[in-house]
Amino acid sequence: MTRIEGAWSIEVLRQRARAALPRLVFDFVDGGAEDEIALARNRRAFGDFRIWPRPLEAAASPDTRTVLFDSELAIPLVVAPTGLTGLLWPGGEVALARAAAARGCVYTLSTAASCPVEEVVAAAPGRVWFQLYLTRDRGFAAELLDRVRQAGCRVLILTTDTPVLGQRERDLANGFTIPPALGLRPLCDLLAHPRWLLRHRLRPDRVTFAHFTGRHGRRGGLELAAHIGAMFEPRLGWREVAWVRERWEGPFLLKGVLHPEEAEQAVAVGADGLVVSNHGGRQLDRVPAAIEALPHVVRRLDGRVPVLLDGGIRRGLDLFIALALGAAAGMAGRALLYGLACAGARGAERALAILGEELRRAMILCGAPDIRAIDARWLAPEGRLTSAPSVPVHP
Ligand SMILES: Cc1cc2nc3c(=O)[nH]c(=O)nc-3n(C[C@H](O)[C@H](O)[C@H](O)COP(=O)(O)O)c2cc1C
Repeated sequence: MTRIEGAWSIEVLRQRARAALPRLVFDFVDGGAEDEIALARNRRAFGDFRIWPRPLEAAASPDTRTVLFDSELAIPLVVAPTGLTGLLWPGGEVALARAAAARGCVYTLSTAASCPVEEVVAAAPGRVWFQLYLTRDRGFAAELLDRVRQAGCRVLILTTDTPVLGQRERDLANGFTIPPALGLRPLCDLLAHPRWLLRHRLRPDRVTFAHFTGRHGRRGGLELAAHIGAMFEPRLGWREVAWVRERWEGPFLLKGVLHPEEAEQAVAVGADGLVVSNHGGRQLDRVPAAIEALPHVVRRLDGRVPVLLDGGIRRGLDLFIALALGAAAGMAGRALLYGLACAGARGAERALAILGEELRRAMILCGAPDIRAIDARWLAPEGRLTSAPSVPVHP
């Protein structure tokens, strides 16, 4: 059994996930689109901010709780939707939802999940939001929305940045494609991970897209992916967004917004919140980092709806910076997936515990008593600290 409790950072979990997973699965999670510039920028951009602490204002025990769309959160973090999570750990989505619930967070289940919404909600009642990829077949989309509502999800997130799939070149190199093109090396690599294979009862190819299986019989994941790719709406525009909005009574968010003008329009068509995101650098390369785009969107919306920051969060400090720039909460994908790959729900819980402990420590060291208190005053103004401020000269 992996001693996951000893892992002290998300990077440690990442290294352990790299060892635990066959390379093609690790790369599917870890990789980004084309030259992976947006992927790297998502991380690097956090390093450009400088925190300006006032520790003497500290509370001994800062309050990390917040409320988002009536969901109480122990830390301001929502687990991001990820497709085919069962490849990392059997029943991966159920494990992530359980971990989120155990740590007082919420989990967002993807349309492209490998466990059905009913099963996931049953494992973590009241703690599951749903992410929609709109299909061309509106009958199917309407049925799916009914199913999601009946299962008990209240919050819906429509992803807008995936009209076509970004070109993920690690997947191409590994033959993780449709149809699969596994060469000898990836096959040997699969065999070199017997624990992972045994966990999947030697049939990882049975991991599938649970919300689509009824339509397409019991096909394996990659086989089904070919059909599903063709099912998604390639021309998602404001009309389509309005179509979804009309069919969902609960809180409705758009995920994938980077531009302030798009944010403005999203609110005009009835979005109750936005997720500023570049899909973790997996779609269009060379876009701004999510954390770079965040203050522009926040400024434009001026508090009209909550804004979440998604992309690159690997530290509690990243979350602190996002909050300081006006995010209501963060969303994290890979940080949780690395933990899941190491030890299932326990590993995902460990990832949340690490982020929570780091945020708490950051709040103590900064002097922020609670989440509402975290604002731009905790960030050093750009470029100013390199030279001493000019002192007024008295005659
Ligand atoms: C393996 C994987 C699968 C993903 N699948 C989906 C998905 O089905 N729907 C979606 O909206 N976003 C999906 N995403 C994007 C995440 O929701 C999120 O935007 C991204 O992971 C954030 O970046 P981070 O991993 O640096 O936290 C996926 C990301 C990864 C890594």
